[in-house]
Amino acid sequence: MNLPNLNQAKIRTNKKPATINAKNIKSTKYQGKKFFLKTYGCQMNVHDSEEIKRILINLGFNETTNYEDADLIALNTCAIRENAHDKVFGFLGRVKHLKKAKPDLIVCVGGCMSELDSVANTLKEKYPFVDIVFGTHNINDLGRLILEHEDKQEIEVYSNEGDIYENIEYERDSKYSAWVNIMYGCDKFCTYCIVPYTRGKQRSRKMADILKEIEELKQAGYQEVTMLGQNVNAYGKDLAENYDFATLLENVAKIGIPRIRFVTSHPWDFTDEMIDIIAKYENIMPYIHLPLQSGSSKILRLMGRRYTKEEYLTLFHKIKERIPNVSITTDIIVGFPNETDEDFNETLDVVNTCQFDGAFTFIYSPREGTPAAKIKDTIPMNIKEERLQKLNKVINDYSLMHNQEYLGKTVKVLVTGPSEKGENMVCGYTETMKLVNIKNACEDIGKIIDVKITDAKSFSLDGEKEIFINN
Ligand code: 5AD
Ligand code: SF4
Repeated sequence: MNLPNLNQAKIRTNKKPATINAKNIKSTKYQGKKFFLKTYGCQMNVHDSEEIKRILINLGFNETTNYEDADLIALNTCAIRENAHDKVFGFLGRVKHLKKAKPDLIVCVGGCMSELDSVANTLKEKYPFVDIVFGTHNINDLGRLILEHEDKQEIEVYSNEGDIYENIEYERDSKYSAWVNIMYGCDKFCTYCIVPYTRGKQRSRKMADILKEIEELKQAGYQEVTMLGQNVNAYGKDLAENYDFATLLENVAKIGIPRIRFVTSHPWDFTDEMIDIIAKYENIMPYIHLPLQSGSSKILRLMGRRYTKEEYLTLFHKIKERIPNVSITTDIIVGFPNETDEDFNETLDVVNTCQFDGAFTFIYSPREGTPAAKIKDTIPMNIKEERLQKLNKVINDYSLMHNQEYLGKTVKVLVTGPSEKGENMVCGYTETMKLVNIKNACEDIGKIIDVKITDAKSFSLDGEKEIFINN
C-alpha cells in the first residue's frame, strides 16, 4: 500500500525526471470479459483514459458502455472542484450495490482524486469494495496492478514529482483527431488550484519524441493533433536544451498535419514569437484558450496568476491584431475569497472589452491543501451564484454574437462524427473551434469540408455541405 501525501506532492527539487519506457503488458487472462470506463474532468484525463483503455484491452477486455454489464469498472477522476468529487462518490454508491450481486467485479479508481490524502483515506475506510486505487503517476502500472490483484484492497498512489513515460500505447477515441501530451504537471501553483499537487512538477517531453509521435499520427491519416499540457506555452522551460513552445509549434507545423491545436496557454508564458508562429502557419489553428480567471488585478495577485488586468488586455489585443480571424476563449472563476462587487465588476468590464468567443465559468471551490483554502471568506454563496448567472448571461450573448458573424459564410470544418442533432447529420469543428452540425455530409466523417453556415446559436452553428459545381 502506498498512500498519497499532499505535503510531499508540492515539493519541487532539481531532480531531472527519468524517461521510462511504457510497459504495455499483454495478457489473455481477461479474454471475453468487459470493462466500463468513466472519465471525469479535463482533456488530460480524456487522453489518460485512452491509455487506460489500451491497458485493459491489452489484458483481453472489451469495452462496454453499460456499467451493469461490466466485469471491471474503472473511474478516471477529477479533483479540480468539489462537485467532481460528489459525482464520483455518487457513482461509487451505485457500484457498491452491483458488487454485492457480482462479487468478482473489479473496481478501480484512478486519476486526480486518488492523489488526495482525504480521498485515498475515505476509499480505504468507507469503500473497501474498491479493489484498486491508482494515481496519476502510475497509470502505466495499472495492467500489473490488475493482474496481481487479490481479494484485499490495493492502494498504490505516489506523491512524487513524476517521470516521463515514452512509447505509451493508446486506444484513441478518434481516427482523425488526436491528443498529444507535450508536457506533464505544473509548477505555477496558482493559489486556488490542486493540479500542481495531483500531477507533479512540470515535465516537458523531448521535442524529438513529440515530433515522432505526430509524424506517426500523420502517417496514420490523422487530420488534427491537439498538443496537451496544463501550461503548454511554458513548454521546454524545464529542459536543458534551448528550445521553447514557439520552436516546437513551428516544427510541428512543418510536419504538415492539416490542423494543429494546443491547450492550455497561460498568459504569463505567451511570447511574441509564439504569436508570430501561430500567425505564420496556416495549419496552426487560429484558436487560443487563454484563461483570465479574474478581471481584478487585486484578485489576480491573490490567485498568484503573475499578470495584471492591464497585462492580460495588452496580450489579448496583441493576439487579436496579429492573428487574423483568431477566436479566443477563456476560463473565469467567480467568488474567489473576498471578491467584492467592484472586483466582480472589473471581471465583467474585461469580458465586455474582450468579447470572448466563449468561456468556462466556475464558482470558486476551496481545495484542501492549497493556499487559497486557508483564506477566511466572507462572501455568501447566494452572491457567488448571482455573479455566476450574471457573468454567464454576458458570456453567452458574446458567444451568440460571434456565432452570428458566421451566418451565410462558407467555412472549413473537420467532420468528426455523427451529430446528436438528428439522423443523417454529422458534426465537426471550424478552424476557430466552433461546433457545427451539418446536413448531408455523412460520407465525409474524417474529412475537412466546406460548410455553408445556415443558423447560429450560442453554443453551435448549423450548416450544409457546400457543393461546388465546376463548369
Ligand atoms: N475552483 C474553481 N475553479 C477552479 N479552476 C481551477 N481550480 C479551481 C477551483 N479551486 C478552474 C480554472 C481553471 C479551470 C480548468 O478550472 O478556471 O482554468
Ligand atoms: Fe492550475 Fe494555475 Fe497550473 Fe493552470 S497554471 S494547472 S490553474 S496551477
